[in-house]
Amino acid sequence: MSPVILSAAGAALVLDDSGPGLPRVRHFGAGLGPVAGPGLLPALASPAPPLLPAQGDSWYGRPGLSGVRDGEQWPVRWTLERCDVAAEPGSGGTVTVTASDARAGLELVSELVMDGGGLVRMRHQVRNAAASPYRVEGLVCALPVPARAGELLDFTGRWALEKVPQRRAFGHGVWSRENRRGRTGHDGTGLLVAGTEGFGFRTGEVWAVHAGWSGGHVHYAERIAEGVSLLAAGELLEPGEVVLGEGESYRTPWVYFTWSGGGLDDASARLHGHLRARSLPVRPVTLNNWEATYFDHGLDRLLELADKAAAAGIERFVLDDGWFRHRRHDRAGLGDWYVDEGVWPDGLHPLADRVRKLGMQFGLWFEPEMVNPDSDLAREHPDWILGRAERMPPPQRHQQVLDLARPEAYAYLLERLDTLVGEYALDYIKWDHNRDIAEPVHGGVPGVHAQTVAVYRLLDELRRRHPALEIESCSSGGARIDYGILARTDRVWTSDSNDALDRQAIQRWTGLLVPPERLGSHVGAPRDHVTGRSLPLAFRAATALFGHMGVEWDLTSAGQEELEELGTWIALHKRLRPVLHAGRVVRADHPDPSASLHGVVLPERAVYAFAQLTSRVDIAPAPLRLPGLDPAALYEVRVAGPAPERSGMPEWAAAPVRLPGSVLGELGLPAPVLRPATALLIEVERV
Ligand code: GLA
Repeated sequence: MSPVILSAAGAALVLDDSGPGLPRVRHFGAGLGPVAGPGLLPALASPAPPLLPAQGDSWYGRPGLSGVRDGEQWPVRWTLERCDVAAEPGSGGTVTVTASDARAGLELVSELVMDGGGLVRMRHQVRNAAASPYRVEGLVCALPVPARAGELLDFTGRWALEKVPQRRAFGHGVWSRENRRGRTGHDGTGLLVAGTEGFGFRTGEVWAVHAGWSGGHVHYAERIAEGVSLLAAGELLEPGEVVLGEGESYRTPWVYFTWSGGGLDDASARLHGHLRARSLPVRPVTLNNWEATYFDHGLDRLLELADKAAAAGIERFVLDDGWFRHRRHDRAGLGDWYVDEGVWPDGLHPLADRVRKLGMQFGLWFEPEMVNPDSDLAREHPDWILGRAERMPPPQRHQQVLDLARPEAYAYLLERLDTLVGEYALDYIKWDHNRDIAEPVHGGVPGVHAQTVAVYRLLDELRRRHPALEIESCSSGGARIDYGILARTDRVWTSDSNDALDRQAIQRWTGLLVPPERLGSHVGAPRDHVTGRSLPLAFRAATALFGHMGVEWDLTSAGQEELEELGTWIALHKRLRPVLHAGRVVRADHPDPSASLHGVVLPERAVYAFAQLTSRVDIAPAPLRLPGLDPAALYEVRVAGPAPERSGMPEWAAAPVRLPGSVLGELGLPAPVLRPATALLIEVERV
């Protein structure tokens, strides 16, 4: 019996589809070379879990599918009907598995895809083939990881400090990250990683899972006494949320699995490859007025801001919260998506026209899913609020959630968005979502599933009507960052914190999942509005430059010198943009925790940043071993951008030097002696 093998970019997945049950995953990890024949299976790990682990397969861990048919329960034991494979060795492929259990009255279709970059995605669909209702309580996608994956890494966080890593040993039991916030969450893990002990960015073997879903979701790692470990993820369903009538189906979101034999960087590169398969136009440097003016929408001030922005080289102007009816503060107006006639007597046209005249694109903020009880919309349609009308959910930021699964609420939002995008020829929407969803009830059952599906449909329809429109996913900063929303948006607002020191970490870890060109990163005010920390412009800019760069600072209050310096950084970003937004992201396992070294690498060019974050313990800084270069190639190395503190610079920084990749990668360059909150950018070009 020959197994099914998917392989691409050094990764492989092996399925044993000899039945009678579901195919078993015999291997997910390193490529196996030419050994594709029948001799392979006996050599691979056993026991191996089936695609949906269940007790009928001697699996006593968490079941892949859990569900109830009241009073008529049959434990599910699948009979394999078909396993259709379309695969090309080395280029990935697709496996579609069809199975059923006549007694349980269920049918299953599982899809497994390995793309050309070796990233695996999987989803299951279960159909109720019987007359009585079947309540789906959980359906997850899981893949096994070998016993040597002894360590787990996942992420937590809060508003303005997203993606804080946490590590632990991977022992027996379940480590489960569960989300019931109705949005991906500031504390949403994004990725759950298992790896060999001490794995880093460049070393160790790692496996990781990500659920592409913006509603309730779960990621877990489980190790059972039989010696089997797996990573799993899926939608987190509340009791009664999905009840299938006869002939109805439930399909999981796509769940993504990545493997690397060389640390987190390679696992991350496969993920980036997936998002980069949908290419984007050049990412315009953006100004967002939120931290510059907040709710003060005086036209003169905004026009001056636009002038200053254009002079600094900014290419897109985004008008944030405060432009619509009744929105003079955050306690009223959400839902009233009409330009406020009192504040904007001529509509947004005077601003939009100036912005366009200055050669910039124009974007606008919305928070479509939300409503303030103090709004015309809530007064006219109190029944559109998600929850029980008799007892409102607890408010957050003075707001409630609109029930988008109600056709009238959906239609209202689509009409408003469509009209405004058309009227102002909007290039861009910042689509916000500023609260957790509490006590959601739609049609008498928990409502987050229906809400999430409706939001996706709304985004899809708006994009269909306006194909050139770009959309940013914001949720009080980075609380809605996942591959479900990213399939229909173009970038994320990484965090409400523009504090460059915090941003170094937030961007590094969010960046495992999201490539730099989709990570909104702005130069904030000299004194950060969230942390109150003052940081030099050079450090703020060198941090923002490594994402989709923007500015969120009141440029009307900046001095001429500052504006000129900002302009220099923006020009540098534009010059480096072809590398920054297309290259492979690399992060060094730098030995000194007070500093970080990361970069973006194309075959011909690379850009690195060495950032001193806090005070060094060692007097002499550790050398900079530049990851990702070709050891056999010769490179010219020079400092990019305004160099910090000339006195702390090593000799090589004075003029371009030529060195082989082996020296740059292995021995490393002597590091500059930098103060905290200082960065040195290094540009490398193959000669
Ligand atoms: C959220 C966003 C901010 C800003 C405000 C406006 O907090 O994350 O960037 O848009 O809403 O109210």
